[in-house]
Amino acid sequence: MVRLSFFTLSPAISRFNIYPSGIISVLLAVTNPSLFRLPKQQQHHQLKTKSPTLPLLTSPLSSPSPNFQRTRFYSTGARVFSNSNYFDDNLVVLGIETSCDDTAAAIVRGNGEILSQVISSQADLLAQYGGVAPKQAEEAHSRVIGKVVQDALDRANLTEKDLSAVAVTIGPGLSLCLRVGVRKARRVAGEFNLPMVGVHHMEAHALVARLVEQELSFPFMALLISGGHNLLVLAHKLGQYTQLGTTVDDAIGEAFDKTAKWLGLDMRRSGGPAVEELALEGDAKSVKFNVPMKNHKDCNFSYAGLKTQVRLAIEAKEIDCKCPLSSATNEDRRNRADIAASFQRVAVLHLEEKCERAIDWALELEPSIKHMVVSGGVASNKYVRLRLSHIVENKNLKLVCPPPSLCTDNGVMVAWTGLEHFRVGRYDPPPPTIEPDDYVYDLRPRWPLGEEYAKGRSEARSMRTARIHPSLTSIIRADDSLQQQTQNVARKIVS
Ligand code: KG4
Ligand code: ZN
Repeated sequence: MVRLSFFTLSPAISRFNIYPSGIISVLLAVTNPSLFRLPKQQQHHQLKTKSPTLPLLTSPLSSPSPNFQRTRFYSTGARVFSNSNYFDDNLVVLGIETSCDDTAAAIVRGNGEILSQVISSQADLLAQYGGVAPKQAEEAHSRVIGKVVQDALDRANLTEKDLSAVAVTIGPGLSLCLRVGVRKARRVAGEFNLPMVGVHHMEAHALVARLVEQELSFPFMALLISGGHNLLVLAHKLGQYTQLGTTVDDAIGEAFDKTAKWLGLDMRRSGGPAVEELALEGDAKSVKFNVPMKNHKDCNFSYAGLKTQVRLAIEAKEIDCKCPLSSATNEDRRNRADIAASFQRVAVLHLEEKCERAIDWALELEPSIKHMVVSGGVASNKYVRLRLSHIVENKNLKLVCPPPSLCTDNGVMVAWTGLEHFRVGRYDPPPPTIEPDDYVYDLRPRWPLGEEYAKGRSEARSMRTARIHPSLTSIIRADDSLQQQTQNVARKIVS
């Protein structure tokens, strides 16, 4: 099986590739002789063929894609690679996101200008299945991906030829869904000879805050709360994160979604907004739910137990989830609102407690931190934002919460994260123009963002560890170390 890799290309090698000097070739040959074996045609052929003899390019220490050294990265012919601001402002990146149930694309300029943003949501499917059904979601992505990308180009008044690179989410997420976005991204990049950046979905949720808040520099803290993740991370620099806490079972978004489903709410905008809206009518102290993990002095989360408490409360009040809210009696509606409000209060209290501790830990590790980012779909909830703003301000930090449209899944965050990595030379070369339909892509459905903080390990952890990809941080660190080695060799040869 052959996998093409994103981020397997060392930044050093990527940058060298744009300076076609003899010494660079020598250095590359020294550091990795296998890179110079094949002429381009053969390389492409080799990449397209599923061959068990080729290595899987998925480990952090694996070698760069074999076809990189022939690639020309001047996609429009007019651009010059340099580190100048001129270059940054003139970068234009297409971002594609299909990791879950939204098909999204956007085009963002290097200076942070959003040139277009298009999202096609699977609202009807969500309502029909009460959650994301992978196969149906994949089919829905496949139906609309072409139009979503075309609309993004049209609204930006651009064609593919105007792009500098294509960024696409490669994980974590549902494999079937990720595949649709990656295939489309590779087709565009292959046809128009554009470099590609494989993006980590959760890093994108965090980094989009840097597009919104120009002052936000590393290091900073982030709470990332979505349907599948509850992450507390310390962002040291681009691609390097320490994971202070995660969920031992369900994420908060999943708890919102199930609560909405069991309360018989309209799931077409996903469960969270429906619970938030109904909670406004309820008494948040009327139903006594326990705050999860009170006795765990760490920064991890658990929402499975709270979900069970909610289900039991719903059963106790004999609420019929098949009866829509609009047909409920006054008393029934009040009961549902009380449960929604009480659930939301306790779910957010859990976030507050863990954030407080995580900020203390983060400040011990990086005392210069000034900001805390709260992002991901659940961060669009007004009550979440309000409560967390108190916690963050009490710790003398500034809260950065992207606007709701950039908190929920979107293409802007992918394009922007692609831009951030592209600027420092982390990208893959354009893929071949033609790839077979059964091509095996490098998808990372289970892909941690950071390295776990030792103090933060929970005894309650029940996360499955099988088939987890090495973390983004470990890949970037290995890349940086390879870059360092290459520079050392260069210095020796030159002197
Ligand atoms: O980040 P996101 O759009 O997709 C994932 O990466 O999962 O997050 C989706 C989650 C869903 O669980 C959804 O119910 C939740 O975010 N969500 C909300 C709100 N808007 C979206 N949860 C609470 N309140 C909201 N207003
Ligand atoms: Zn997300």
